[in-house]
Amino acid sequence: MKAALLKGLNEPLEIRDDVELVELGANEVHVKIVSSGVCHSDVSAQNGTIPTQFPSVLGHEGAGIIQEVGDNVERLKAGDKVIISFVPACMHCNPCLRGQSYLCADMGPMIATPHFLIDGKPVHGFSGCGTFSDQIIVPASAAVKVDDDIPLDIVSLIGCGVTTGVGASINSARVTPGSSVVVFGCGGVGISAIQGARIAGAAEILAVDMVDSKLEMAKHFGATHVCKPDDLDGMKTQITGGEGFDFAIECIGNPATIRGAYDAARRGGSATIVGVGRMEQMVQFSAFELFFADKQLKGSMYGGANVRVFMPQLLRLWKQGKLDLESMVSKRMKVDDVNEAFRAMQEGEVIRTVLDFA
Ligand SMILES: NC(=O)c1ccc[n+]([C@@H]2O[C@H](COP(=O)([O-])OP(=O)(O)OC[C@H]3O[C@@H](n4cnc5c(N)ncnc54)[C@H](O)[C@@H]3O)[C@@H](O)[C@H]2O)c1
Ligand SMILES: [Zn+2]
Ligand SMILES: [Zn+2]
Repeated sequence: MKAALLKGLNEPLEIRDDVELVELGANEVHVKIVSSGVCHSDVSAQNGTIPTQFPSVLGHEGAGIIQEVGDNVERLKAGDKVIISFVPACMHCNPCLRGQSYLCADMGPMIATPHFLIDGKPVHGFSGCGTFSDQIIVPASAAVKVDDDIPLDIVSLIGCGVTTGVGASINSARVTPGSSVVVFGCGGVGISAIQGARIAGAAEILAVDMVDSKLEMAKHFGATHVCKPDDLDGMKTQITGGEGFDFAIECIGNPATIRGAYDAARRGGSATIVGVGRMEQMVQFSAFELFFADKQLKGSMYGGANVRVFMPQLLRLWKQGKLDLESMVSKRMKVDDVNEAFRAMQEGEVIRTVLDFA
């Protein structure tokens, strides 16, 4: 079967036809991928921002149809439509029992288990997925069942970007009605955070990006104001009287914009960090300002979402026309063109490219 393989740091993905799956194990499901979004985290695996094993089949934002279920899998069956979760959850560890399955303590070994083979040798899937492939095997807890009438070519974005961004606004930042919000970065994740802030009832939503076309798109998704990074201070004065935003949400993963998000929040407000920078990159705060500003600085992993509850909620919002997924798909391609999709993302040309599988 066909899959896009990352063999080493900064190498282009290699499209291969000779990738096979391991034998299906207990508690696992075999899924035929219908579509997969291309997320910046895939690019970050390629350039080393997010450590990954080599070789790996990339892709972690997918949707597909169950082909077969392993022993002990009770809630899923062949033919079920599913969205892939890049965090499987054991539902037994402390984080899972606390209702924070997106922090599952047993996720590590689950996603480190290789499910692909090339020439009989094990090959990993990025974050345990590998959705740039015709077919994958994942833990059953990484497959979230959706209704039969859901079009899988549209909803694959929920597998990462949409859950992450909408969840960052609703679950992590907890944006409130009538509040002011600034979102840094208008890619698939940032646009989703803007939609989440709109759904949560924010009064003003400022979108910040370097790319003009992204700012135009941001307005369509609910941004009431848009600006380039250099104009942020002026917009902060215009929108908040200089006090700062109730909620700042960073969806880029850059130390300067993480610091910028903290600075853009008002005293007593919050800065939620969604973007993923390198492990060695540092963000500085003075030991005085943290207490004095009384801001909450929070991380946000996978939108703070318990995906089995949150993904169906997102689908209901989409069905009611309150969450726009269609307009987020800037381009559709085949997996053969995944390197072009990576280029287009890095050039700021797309919100999302979706890869269609036959
Ligand atoms: N926290 C999580 O669980 C999680 C999940 C998915 C993705 N992410 C991360 O979220 C981030 C965004 O992902 P994406 O897929 O939306 O990426 P993307 O590349 O589609 O979007 C990033 C946007 O930021 C803009 N940008 C870049 N540098 C900027 C700057 N200095 N100032 C203003 N705008 C700037 C770009 O023009 C682009 O529009 C990435 O770091 C990704 O790894 C985190
Ligand atoms: Zn992602
Ligand atoms: Zn767990």
